Amino acid sequence: MEKHFAVIGNPVAHSLSPAMHRGGYRELGVEADYLRFQIESGDLSQAVQGLKALGFSGWNVTVPFKEQIIPFLDELTPEALQAGAVNTVKVAEDGRLLGHNTDGNGFVRSLQDEMKIEKGMEVVILGAGGAAKGIAMALIPYDVKITVLNRTPERAQQLVDLIKSQGGDAVVKPWEAGDWLNSAQLLVQTTSLGLKQEQYPFSLRGIFPETWVVDIIFNPWETPFLREARELGCRTLNGVGMLLYQGALAWEFWFGGQAPVAGMKKGLFEALP
Ligand code: ATR
Repeated sequence: MEKHFAVIGNPVAHSLSPAMHRGGYRELGVEADYLRFQIESGDLSQAVQGLKALGFSGWNVTVPFKEQIIPFLDELTPEALQAGAVNTVKVAEDGRLLGHNTDGNGFVRSLQDEMKIEKGMEVVILGAGGAAKGIAMALIPYDVKITVLNRTPERAQQLVDLIKSQGGDAVVKPWEAGDWLNSAQLLVQTTSLGLKQEQYPFSLRGIFPETWVVDIIFNPWETPFLREARELGCRTLNGVGMLLYQGALAWEFWFGGQAPVAGMKKGLFEALP
């Protein structure tokens, strides 16, 4: 019997998840389809009930519902609990709704395609919102040293406290300090500045050319931040790999086994704008 999956969010019209997952179904000959639904915030509870009643096997959740959906779920995985956010829901055999989060580990898997995450590595995270939190949580098991910079220092401190409460090593530095540039081995830009195409409030001049610089978005493909990093000789990575692997990990949560990453990547790249 054909299985049904979807992504819910608002806006969701440009989501590449349907193309990516269908690429995976094609590779393995899985009888399934993947749709996208834009819903209004007030309708979230009914939408969840509707998806369940219609027999959906699972769905992805994107902005602005990753936190809002939690009260409508029956159980959260440790990853979802730690992140305080859900990007993947599975309908269990007994009808229970399980919330999971694959964003942070998707980020880690995309990094591992390019580099080795070493113990003691100096990681600088720009931003302290939901995305930063998921990434920081997924990096804790690798024993890296995390520095958090954020426009609002209180929020940076909250993230650092959370990282420490989970056994990680983290400090806050002021946005404008600049000294982190000389020690960073991995710099991850998670703020919404890239999305808004705004100028970020500091320069990367002085950065180690050895540094890996990541922006977690991929539209634009190269943000002004990544462009500056590349021009300064750094190795750069955009967010397309994170999208691919959060999808692959969602697949594995739904189906078990190994996700058909090559087919998913093909579907995703064919659909890129
Ligand atoms: P997400 O879940 O995508 O991380 P979020 O939780 O709203 O979204 O977090 C947005 C991040 O972008 C925050 O780190 C935010 O900084 P503040 O905590 O100071 O709000 C950052 N951000 C957004 N607009 C910014 C701007 N114009 N300048 C600097 N930082 C900005």
